[in-house]
Amino acid sequence: MKGGFYGLRAKELSLVTILLMCTTVFVLTWKRTPLLTPFPPQGGLQLTPVGLGKEKVAIAVEDFKNEKLGKEEIGNQVTENGKAKTEIEKTGNVKTETNDSEVVRTELEEKGKEENERRAIPTLTSPVQGSSKSSKIVSGNDLSLPINNKACNYGNGKWVVDHNRSLYSGFGCKQWLSGMWACRMTQRTDFAYEKLRWQPKDCQLEEFEGSKFLKRSASTSNSTMENKTLAFVGDSLGRQQFQSLMCMVTGGHERDDVIDVGEEYGIARAYGNARPSGWAYRFPSTNTTILYYWSASLCYIEPIDKLNPNTEYAMHLDRPAAFLVQNIHRFDALILNTGHHWNRGKINANRWVMHVRGARNTDKNIQMIWKARNLTVHSVIKWVNSQLPKYPNLKVFYRSISPRHFVGGEWNTGGSCDNTTPMSIGKEVERDESSDSVAAAAVKGTGVKLLDITDLSQLRDEAHISRFHSSTGSSDCLHWCLPGLPDTWNEILFAQL
Ligand SMILES: *[C@@H]1O[C@H](CO)[C@@H](O)[C@H](O)[C@H]1NC(C)=O
Ligand SMILES: *[C@@H]1O[C@H](CO)[C@@H](O)[C@H](O)[C@H]1NC(C)=O
Ligand SMILES: *[C@@H]1O[C@H](CO)[C@@H](O)[C@H](O)[C@H]1NC(C)=O
Ligand SMILES: *[C@@H]1O[C@H](CO)[C@@H](O)[C@H](O)[C@H]1NC(C)=O
Ligand SMILES: *[C@@H]1O[C@H](CO)[C@@H](O)[C@H](O)[C@H]1NC(C)=O
Ligand SMILES: *[C@@H]1O[C@H](CO)[C@@H](O)[C@H](O)[C@H]1NC(C)=O
Repeated sequence: MKGGFYGLRAKELSLVTILLMCTTVFVLTWKRTPLLTPFPPQGGLQLTPVGLGKEKVAIAVEDFKNEKLGKEEIGNQVTENGKAKTEIEKTGNVKTETNDSEVVRTELEEKGKEENERRAIPTLTSPVQGSSKSSKIVSGNDLSLPINNKACNYGNGKWVVDHNRSLYSGFGCKQWLSGMWACRMTQRTDFAYEKLRWQPKDCQLEEFEGSKFLKRSASTSNSTMENKTLAFVGDSLGRQQFQSLMCMVTGGHERDDVIDVGEEYGIARAYGNARPSGWAYRFPSTNTTILYYWSASLCYIEPIDKLNPNTEYAMHLDRPAAFLVQNIHRFDALILNTGHHWNRGKINANRWVMHVRGARNTDKNIQMIWKARNLTVHSVIKWVNSQLPKYPNLKVFYRSISPRHFVGGEWNTGGSCDNTTPMSIGKEVERDESSDSVAAAAVKGTGVKLLDITDLSQLRDEAHISRFHSSTGSSDCLHWCLPGLPDTWNEILFAQL
């Protein structure tokens, strides 16, 4: 994997790219055992909801439906040593130019030393797509909802203040938490965002305890994480969720017993200056492995001319990432995501050339970014689903898109997310289907579960990195502070394992 593939020069920003394609698995046995507790008492203090009346707040959901399939992918910008290029890719039907682009974020990384490898992280696509009709966010404290025990929809609910949070200290967890995401270590001075807990509407999320996670996946189930491997495969938002889980399981405390088993997965060390393509850690006490593999598109990606260092890469939209194909038999739980790298700027910067059925794509229709992404998401989930009969104990989740919140511009044109007050308190998310309609449609009829975090995350505009980790003054309204929102994603995951 050296050289061409991952070896894109750091300065090209193309970071590491990864590969793969798509497809599906299906899980025979999702035991859903949501706890049925009625609404727990709300934690003591309530922040005053700001500006929320009883009116429905339409915040989260943008209605793209009215635009006639007007999903658009807005491009991203890739920052290269200061220079940025932006590209907007939209769907055919939508003619309007919007400034809804994404931020490309750079990640400085690595344990200890900060490599200044700039990695463009494309940002989100329209965070909330599709059926806004089915979504609504209402304010109020109506707790009189019936409790439906058999199938809790964790995506419906509201944010409540909980002074017992956070789940680990933002000053700690240095072993796994990237400095760029540890907001406690930046100039940021407001931390109210750490004190919110997601309260699902029809059930209660079990309090997370790291030791419990390792011993059993949920109190109502006899399954345990002993001898098991949980894998996150996706982009930088997937990596945030991975780091979050490592911090949650360890409580943010230093753990000398944890073993780096990256080599077992071929993701151990760097390729030249590049970062590793992933991380894998094992807790010897329970023989539990938690890993993350970087695959921004989930597609199988291969160099077109292996001998040419400047080669383009075939991005096989209908084939899953090689890492998935090679390792799926070793996983007991798999959490997939993709989203923010699907924009023309990013794809061009990585020199990815779309391929379908093994050949360069010539279908103008598929060439549209959002359609290409839709094809990949469907293909990957379909492939994974096809593998499930072979691995009946494997649980697979596709995590819905994580929203971004740039206001007043883009990531590179002064866009910001400076709100610090948890505006979301008291607002309720109540909808039938995820706002991530691509993901919802893709998992339908498969054994892959949707880890639906889009709408609940949409309410958390104050929880991004914002302007506090930047040397250029730009804001990161794509990634989230840790501890923070991704911890909730893991609690919801935990409830469904
Ligand atoms: C906070 O944690 C303490 C100790 O674990 C517990 O007794 C208390 O009920 C918790 N408070 C809330 C609001 O969850
Ligand atoms: C996009 O943003 C630029 C700069 O922020 C602004 O000049 C332009 O009018 C915006 N375009 C739209 C369609 O909002
Ligand atoms: C767990 O296993 C024990 C013994 O096998 C059984 O009695 C109990 O009902 C199981 N609990 C659940 C939630 O399946
Ligand atoms: C750890 O778990 C794997 C299966 O995931 C198993 O093959 C291996 O034997 C276990 N090792 C120990 C020391 O229990
Ligand atoms: C974990 O693996 C070890 C070694 O293979 C085995 O002895 C033990 O029973 C396994 N534990 C579970 C819960 O499967
Ligand atoms: C997304 O892709 C699937 C599978 O190729 C297709 O059936 C579906 O119609 C596509 N969705 C849209 C909105 O084009």
